[in-house]
Amino acid sequence: MAFLFPQEVLNFRRSFGGTIARSNLEQAVTFYEDLHSVNGGTELKRMENYTSMVNTYYDLATAFYEYGWGQSFHMSTRVYNESFKESIKRHEHYLALRLGLKPGMKVLDVGCGIGGPLREIAAFSGATVIGINNNQHQINRGIALNKQYGMSDRCQFIKGDFMKIPVPDNSFDAAYNIEACCHAPDLVALYKEIYRVLKPGQCVAGYDWCMTNEYDRNNEYHNKVKEEIELGNGLPTVRTTTEYIDALKAAGFRVLMEEDVAVRPNLQCPWYDSVKPKVLSLEGFRRTSLGRFIGRQMLKVLEFSGIAPKGSQEVYNVLERSGDGLYEGGRLGIFTPMLFYIAEKPHHEDI
Ligand SMILES: C[S@@+](CC[C@H](N)C(=O)[O-])C[C@H]1O[C@@H](n2cnc3c(N)ncnc32)[C@H](O)[C@@H]1O
Repeated sequence: MAFLFPQEVLNFRRSFGGTIARSNLEQAVTFYEDLHSVNGGTELKRMENYTSMVNTYYDLATAFYEYGWGQSFHMSTRVYNESFKESIKRHEHYLALRLGLKPGMKVLDVGCGIGGPLREIAAFSGATVIGINNNQHQINRGIALNKQYGMSDRCQFIKGDFMKIPVPDNSFDAAYNIEACCHAPDLVALYKEIYRVLKPGQCVAGYDWCMTNEYDRNNEYHNKVKEEIELGNGLPTVRTTTEYIDALKAAGFRVLMEEDVAVRPNLQCPWYDSVKPKVLSLEGFRRTSLGRFIGRQMLKVLEFSGIAPKGSQEVYNVLERSGDGLYEGGRLGIFTPMLFYIAEKPHHEDI
């Protein structure tokens, strides 16, 4: 039981729903699901309600993410003989290296989750990393983990909306986002805000979620996959790679490089292998089809017996649909979670 549901991460009695009370969990899942196209919701409604939609999603999903995935809530490809955990770290190290992070730099992590990448990047580069996140539940967990690992001096959090970052202009030596800008209601406005807080001559890097050039807006199945990705991940929409790069430029950045790192040659496993329902493997057991099946059955029993709050199974279902949408998007090549870019805020005289 403890192996399947570790208490420090997924504690049903305490309620896993962040700030959502046990008794309100079912209502919260329904509110969330009704915003989405698969249930008749619209993109406009999701944009208008982005704060409550995203916060409800992460209140519901965070414990399951940490339980099934780890402390870094992002994807990675796998090369050589890498384990899943090693591949996650390599993905973070690559970003830190390309961004040129060094000791003494003050770096912003935009949409930082519970701080898995933030701690790893601070440890790897020696920089001080400050994460902004609008989800109090994740920040609380992040602060506890910073303390547990003795990282509180160089790893900090700001509770706030990344559309209005509460710091003065020209505050940071670098900024990055890992799979968080996808939640923004307005990409250009978000990049303008990151531009504002970066010092001139400094760079932002990111891994972003996009529909690729293979995506066909007129293909019904492609759109179904896109909607499942939106539902399973708290997204107002999924923009195209071109929309991301255009938004960076519109905000004033000079794009120095862009690359979809999902399609590099000689990969041992593509990123979507991690969400593939597959045969038994001991590492990442909870992500295998057997692990998922056992998890679902246990949850049924826990909810039926009143230990898990009503609505727990539905949260699990939303996350499973997320996995299925992501897998299909990856398999078809119509979606990537890792459009990587580096973009510079020019010195005024360079513009
Ligand atoms: C997929 S998670 C990625 C987290 C982190 N980058 C990682 O890789 O572990 C997206 C994060 O963005 C945060 N986020 C979404 N919208 C936000 C907003 N408007 N302001 C601040 N944070 C936001 C979420 O709370 C969540 O922590």
